[in-house]
Amino acid sequence: MQYETLIVERIGNIGKITINRPDKLNAMNRKVREELDQAFAEFAQDSNVAVVVVTGAGEKAFVAGADINEFKDKKASQMYEDFRPDKVFYELARFQKPVIAMINGYALGGGCELAMTCDIRIASEKAKLGQPEIKLGIIPGWGGTQRLPRLIGEGRAMWMILSGEMIDAKTALEWGLVDFVVKPEELDEFTMNLANKIAKMSPLTLKIAKEAVKAAANLSLKEGLELESRLFALTFSTEDKEEGVAAFLEKRKPEFKGR
Ligand code: COA
Repeated sequence: MQYETLIVERIGNIGKITINRPDKLNAMNRKVREELDQAFAEFAQDSNVAVVVVTGAGEKAFVAGADINEFKDKKASQMYEDFRPDKVFYELARFQKPVIAMINGYALGGGCELAMTCDIRIASEKAKLGQPEIKLGIIPGWGGTQRLPRLIGEGRAMWMILSGEMIDAKTALEWGLVDFVVKPEELDEFTMNLANKIAKMSPLTLKIAKEAVKAAANLSLKEGLELESRLFALTFSTEDKEEGVAAFLEKRKPEFKGR
């Protein structure tokens, strides 16, 4: 598959997607969004890809948002059609394998929303995150008003969304918007080490674990615990559970097969 706006690579069992419009700070135009869907669909089908890393090209930005050029002269009816929740980051949102956002610089607007749609966020010390849409007379439209308060609480999300102010990586870590902050020169290695560590687990069990954790945002505690109990029991039907337990008892490394 050829991509115009992404670099799509396989590094061992890791699929890496680099949004590649550095001169526009990797702003996501329609082509980027379509290609992101294609790349995730491709990795979903590829059993050699266990974990996906998403990042931005260049020194400055992860993604500085939706491409603002595409907002000019757009009508409400068209935006309502194009950005229904089931269309935004469609393949990423339904992707069953773990996805790590490697936030190398600005993650603004849609870029912050893209990072929040991923499962784990690792930021460079020089990253800056924000939802500056209010300055354009609009509000976040790809999940920001919903995912941000779930991650950092209503008051801080309000502050970010109402003021449009950015926060630095250290604050993002304190607030829970990112999960790790590392030196810029260590970002790639730290992220790939984590991705490779996760990739050694059973691909089947990873999917089940991700499904359970993702469900927490939508379920009551009671419903969530019931789902967890069913998924926990399901893991006991897998060959990988037999292998994992046997390997521990035999003091050896497990060889998971994804069955
Ligand atoms: N959409 C389209 N183009 C964008 C963009 C976006 N979201 N963000 C940056 N760019 C473009 C700039 O227009 C500029 O293009 P040009 O060289 O053709 O003029 C290029 O990327 C570099 O950006 P620039 O603004 O010159 O860099 P800077 O270091 O001075 O400022 C930012 C960096 C991130 C503070 C600034 O680019 C910015 O505020 N971007 C918009 C962020 C935003 O509002 N995102 C939410 C959109 S909904």
